[in-house]
Parts: sequence; C-alpha cells; structure tokens
Amino acid sequence: MDVHNVELTISAVAPKQYPSGNLPEIALVGRSNVGKSSLTNTLINRRSFARTSSQPGKTQTLNFYQIEQQLYFVDVPGYGYAKVSKVEREKWGQMIETYLTSRDQLKGVITLVDGRHAPTEDDIAMHEWLNYYNIDTLVVATKMDKIAKSKWNKQEKIIRQSLEMSGTEPLVLFSAVSKTGKDAVWDWIEERTK
Ligand code: GTP
Ligand code: MG
Repeated sequence: MDVHNVELTISAVAPKQYPSGNLPEIALVGRSNVGKSSLTNTLINRRSFARTSSQPGKTQTLNFYQIEQQLYFVDVPGYGYAKVSKVEREKWGQMIETYLTSRDQLKGVITLVDGRHAPTEDDIAMHEWLNYYNIDTLVVATKMDKIAKSKWNKQEKIIRQSLEMSGTEPLVLFSAVSKTGKDAVWDWIEERTK
C-alpha cells in the first residue's frame, strides 16, 4: 500500500476509548525496544511518526494509527521492561489481554522479535499465548541490518525452532534501516484487511 494519509487518532487504555467504527486493525507486539514503532514508521513511510526511542518502555498506551481510512495499526506497549513495577506490569497484561481477546476489528497480530538473538522467554510465552487464542500471527524478525546476510538462514531456523513454528507459519526477516521485508509485511496485512 502506498500510504499518504495517516493520523494518530487514539491512545487508549480501556475498551471505551478504542476507536468507534469498523475499520480492521492490525496489532504490533514485542519486547520493549524491539522496534515496533520503527516498523510502524517504515510501513507508513515516515521517519518518526510513531515515537521511537532508545529508552525502553516509552509507549504505555495502545496507540491506534489510522491509515488511509482503511485500517488501524495498533502499537502495543512492549513487554519485558524490568524497571516497570509489578503492579504496572499486571495492569499492562490486563489491558493487552482485554484488547487481543475481545476486539472484533482485530484481524491479525505482528509479533516482533530481535533478529540478532534467540527469542527470549517473554517472546516464547507471547507467541504461545497468541496461538492458544488462535490469533492470526505474523512473526517479524527485525534489526536484520545488524547481522551479516550469510547468517540470516541460521537465525531464521533458530527463531522458528524456539517459537515452535510449523513450516507454514509466516515469518518475515525485516529491517527498518534497509526496508528489507517491508513489502512482505504489507502483503500479509493487506490479505487480512481487504
Ligand atoms: P517501545 O515503544 O519502548 O516498546 O519500543 P519499540 O519496540 O517501539 O522500539 P523502537 O521502534 O522505538 O526502536 C528501539 C530502538 O531500536 C531505536 O533506537 C531504533 O532506532 C532501533 N531500531 C528499530 N528497528 C531497527 C532496525 O531494523 N535496525 C536497526 N539498526 N535499528 C532499529
Ligand atoms: Mg514504541
């Protein structure tokens, strides 16, 4: 999709704050600092629309970005940020769980993992949880510009094995720097939001 029209419509913590209307939604989940905001910006051709930072844990609300009157990207706050208190983490968990399990407009979830490393326990738990709820998921391994191309195959295997992905489950190798994988991610989204 060639995107021209984007507006930050809504930040929400509770269902009554979610956007009204029936546009399909695609959510982005993953650890703090993994690159969710950067992926959003790459998909919508903006250098910094969704706020990116080197300080993890910046995004604390569900942020709904409306794209071309066609769909919303929902930037979900990152998990696994150690400095957040236990109470905060439980509140976060409830907010995410409510959204991911009860939102009719949600058509798919993009799970980001750091392409340089094996998935963490949090990544594995999140992926298992999405499978358990039968939520249609695309795994995106990001920051691929930081590792040599000769290692990409091996990294993909490690990620697939750790997340116990079947051969047919989709995975895209991605970089917000080189834009590798951008079209493949858009293809997956468009199939679910047409
Ligand atoms: P939270 O909102 O805190 O959960 O983080 P996030 O997942 O939105 O991460 P964000 O997009 O803010 O990126 C975190 C850091 O990683 C920033 O310094 C980005 O510039 C960097 N980054 C993200 N994606 C890539 C990538 O594909 N390649 C490289 N080299 N750096 C990236
Ligand atoms: Mg972010």
